[in-house]
Amino acid sequence: MSEPRVDIAFTVNGEAVRESVAARKTLVDFLREDLGLTGSHVGCEHGVCGACTVRVNGVIVRGCLMLAAQCDGAVVETIEGVSDSGDIADLQQAFEKRNALQCGFCTPGMLLTAAELLSVTPRPGRAEIRQYLSGNYCRCTGYHAIVDAVEAVAQQRAGRKA
Ligand code: FES
Ligand code: FES
Repeated sequence: MSEPRVDIAFTVNGEAVRESVAARKTLVDFLREDLGLTGSHVGCEHGVCGACTVRVNGVIVRGCLMLAAQCDGAVVETIEGVSDSGDIADLQQAFEKRNALQCGFCTPGMLLTAAELLSVTPRPGRAEIRQYLSGNYCRCTGYHAIVDAVEAVAQQRAGRKA
């Protein structure tokens, strides 16, 4: 018996998408396999590691825990779109400058999570940064450099506003 499919229409990185998707396909698999947006990664597939983080209607979600079919009518943003917008260019530069990435597997999710933190808490302390990023696992960096990078960007942005 063929798998049930669902017709969906939503926006991905500003582009309208209309597709018939397998009812059980996750959002991150749909983005990667059907749209070729491979910046969102698949790690644990259990909602633990944060590698699959994307934005849906402006809020970060686990792309492995959401079905593509649930996104009908939604606005989805991936690391590709957010990166192209220039909104996180300072975070990306800070990550590079401070060696806050090595293999890069966690980096798209880290960046989207850090961007959300700085939008809700513009001057987070180091403990707050660690707490907010605690759902994003990194096997390479030991986290210190990531916290340094996010803290540096918070300070830069505060300096620009002053
Ligand atoms: S792959 Fe989604 S949280 Fe790990
Ligand atoms: S840089 Fe390799 S998992 Fe974070």
